[in-house]
Amino acid sequence: MKICKTIDEMRLARREARRAGMRLGFVPTMGALHEGHLSLVRAAKSACDAVAVSIFVNPLQFGPTEDLGRYPRTFERDSGLLENEAVDMLFVPPADEMYPPGAVTYVTVEGLSDKLCGRSRPGHFRGVTTVVAKLFHIVEPDAAFFGQKDAAQSTIIRRMVQDLNLPVEIVVCPIVREPDGLAMSSRNAYLDPQQRKSALVLQRSLLEIKNQFERGERNATNLIEAGKQLLSQEAGARLDYLEIVDPSTLEPVTQFDRPALVAVAAFVGNTRLIDNIVVPV
Ligand code: PAJ
Repeated sequence: MKICKTIDEMRLARREARRAGMRLGFVPTMGALHEGHLSLVRAAKSACDAVAVSIFVNPLQFGPTEDLGRYPRTFERDSGLLENEAVDMLFVPPADEMYPPGAVTYVTVEGLSDKLCGRSRPGHFRGVTTVVAKLFHIVEPDAAFFGQKDAAQSTIIRRMVQDLNLPVEIVVCPIVREPDGLAMSSRNAYLDPQQRKSALVLQRSLLEIKNQFERGERNATNLIEAGKQLLSQEAGARLDYLEIVDPSTLEPVTQFDRPALVAVAAFVGNTRLIDNIVVPV
């Protein structure tokens, strides 16, 4: 596995892969890798000839009071895991390589960026789309792999790629969960054993909505209320949002004439967790 710390090194490695006629898959991450990340790497491996992964804890997508400073950084372990998956290139730029002093250019997906997590984390999605656009220009992948875990992020990146005519195929892979149902997340490492139990309420609230939907309830307000009700019974969790939206516009749905995204975010202690499911028509 070629480890590239500078943009020039990454571009050189990319050029060599292109010369060899390889289709390049790309998995951007912030590290602290788990099976969710590795599922994306495996999907990229099976669809492409070579795979590049980036590990970059992107300061631009963290708010001033968020966990940038304490975000888990486990580079030795991460690079071992990626080596095991036979990843070809690992891009790990320092922050000033990506954002030299004086950088003032951003990519914003208007409208979508202030929905769901964007509402409670102002500037977050601007940080995501800016770094992902930069990474796409540096890595020049043929296909890039994202997780359904961050459903709004995937929607916003798809829209950015479409609006800016970026020549990259976006592939979204299913959520990988712990055996008890908790969606895997690098932030789960913050949870103590009690909070780890409380965190299960996110998925429980989604499943409650899915069950009621399957039993025939089609009133979105009632469905959301049922999920919120269940969540409020868990003293260790504090709701941020629970919404039922159209997966491509992120606008609240009133009618279930196509698949709908049920998305939840809640604080467990100081840790903000997210999860979602899609209810079919
Ligand atoms: P990060 O949280 O490290 O996630 C990297 C990728 O892994 C994202 O596409 C995310 O959706 C996916 N992922 C995380 N947990 C998952 C799970 N349980 N199952 C399936 N996929 C999962 O998302 C980011 O980093 C950043 O915003 C990034 C896109 C790298 C830009 O900085």
